[in-house]
Amino acid sequence: MNNLMTKVKDQLDQAGIKYEFTKLPDDISMDVDVHMKFHGKDMSHAMTNMVFKTEKGFIVAQRRGDTQIDSKELKKLLAVQRLSLATKEELEQFGLEPGIVPPLGYEIPIYMDNKVLEKDVIYTGTGDRLFTVKLNPNDLIKVNQATLGDFTNLEDVQSGGRVLSGIRATGRLHLGNYLGAVKGFLQLQENPNYQNFYMVVDLHTLTTPYDKDTLRESVRNIIIDYLACGLDPTKSTIFIQSMIPEHIELAYLFSTVMFVARMQHLPTFKEKVKQHPENVTMALLNYPVLMAADILIYKASLVPVGIDQEPHLEVAREIARKMNDQYGLNLPHPQRFATRGEYVPSLLGEGKMSKSIEGSYINLTDDLETIKEKLAKAPTDAGKGAKAPTEGGVASLLEFVELFQGLEKRKDYEKQYTTDGLRYKELKEELAQAIFNELKPIQEKRRKLEQDLQYVDQVIEEGALQARKVASETLNEIKKAMGINYD
Ligand code: TRP
Repeated sequence: MNNLMTKVKDQLDQAGIKYEFTKLPDDISMDVDVHMKFHGKDMSHAMTNMVFKTEKGFIVAQRRGDTQIDSKELKKLLAVQRLSLATKEELEQFGLEPGIVPPLGYEIPIYMDNKVLEKDVIYTGTGDRLFTVKLNPNDLIKVNQATLGDFTNLEDVQSGGRVLSGIRATGRLHLGNYLGAVKGFLQLQENPNYQNFYMVVDLHTLTTPYDKDTLRESVRNIIIDYLACGLDPTKSTIFIQSMIPEHIELAYLFSTVMFVARMQHLPTFKEKVKQHPENVTMALLNYPVLMAADILIYKASLVPVGIDQEPHLEVAREIARKMNDQYGLNLPHPQRFATRGEYVPSLLGEGKMSKSIEGSYINLTDDLETIKEKLAKAPTDAGKGAKAPTEGGVASLLEFVELFQGLEKRKDYEKQYTTDGLRYKELKEELAQAIFNELKPIQEKRRKLEQDLQYVDQVIEEGALQARKVASETLNEIKKAMGINYD
């Protein structure tokens, strides 16, 4: 525990309020959003303490993680003309460090934004990089005597920019991909402030054993699935990764700033090593670097992917930071865009829905009968108890009810569970029908597309042209910055 953190702890203890320190993993990144993932909370439960310099001296502004400072409002509240973030050196005078300023423990006047108080618990820094503190902001304010005000705006997700994502070409899409990824793509595609790029990542598919004779077909099938689900080539750029060789060139350039040890320690890498110990290739080690190139070559700031991809996004941010620092570039720090269905449980009640576990998944092409059969096999219990289960087969079924029939329906069932008892036969019948209703139009569209492969190939060709235009521009800019351009 460093000095500052000890001071924070003492002040909280003296005030006699409830609080809780949590130790973060030693190798965790500095990103607040990563910390919040660790705590299992969203950014609205984070509180950031920012030190500003004004002509009247320094102040601390406390804002919620999902808001931005409105500097005009803050200036008004402080009655000052000038407002700028304190530099590293200025922070040092107070014994503070950038990024880990605690909510008290120093002699600087504090201003708290009212939106912070809307939460009963918030997580914030302690002055020690590896600890966060959880407390009630209404208690905090009594201790740090913060002045309240309205000086933030909710972060505008509409601020524009580029969105990019990709799915590997291992088999066809299933319900997990649809809920966890594609539904997010569809939502973002309809937002005119974003430019969307969606690809099939065939190069990443090569990092694990694959069948060269069927790869081409699998890739095209995913493009067809994308189109059938509603991705629209007039709104989004839909393409195949390997048709844009610039990704590979950029991945090589990026690999010059990443250390081997960092890559070897990624949980995703270790997992693959366990799964395929005979196939620990350079390409596998380089997987996250290529993914960073996929994202940054389009300067995408938003990436709709499952939570399991967070370590890869951290690598992408790290690469962006290093490239920006070393070569004076201005690459974005891409953030994950989470969808409601980002964790789709296995029908079997253990782990997530996955292509590689038989009985765990529903295919987008399954008919009503098949869906019924698969749901029939999902494990259940007696249907009665003091509390509806939060894990296992019944919990999975309830999660699917919520995803396809809404929260109200789920609550109904949960109530039945604790009163008269829940009849799974009826639940499963209704649920199968609800899932099929959502899949039916997708299947119909797919059948049409299968009759018009010429159209599909045209989408692929035009997508590549559009993507390549953007990709080659970024690549040239980066090569120039790195001193390897000769024109
Ligand atoms: N690694 C991702 C996955 O397995 C696939 C992927 C590759 C990707 N490149 C990407 C996802 C770029 C988003 C952006 O799901």
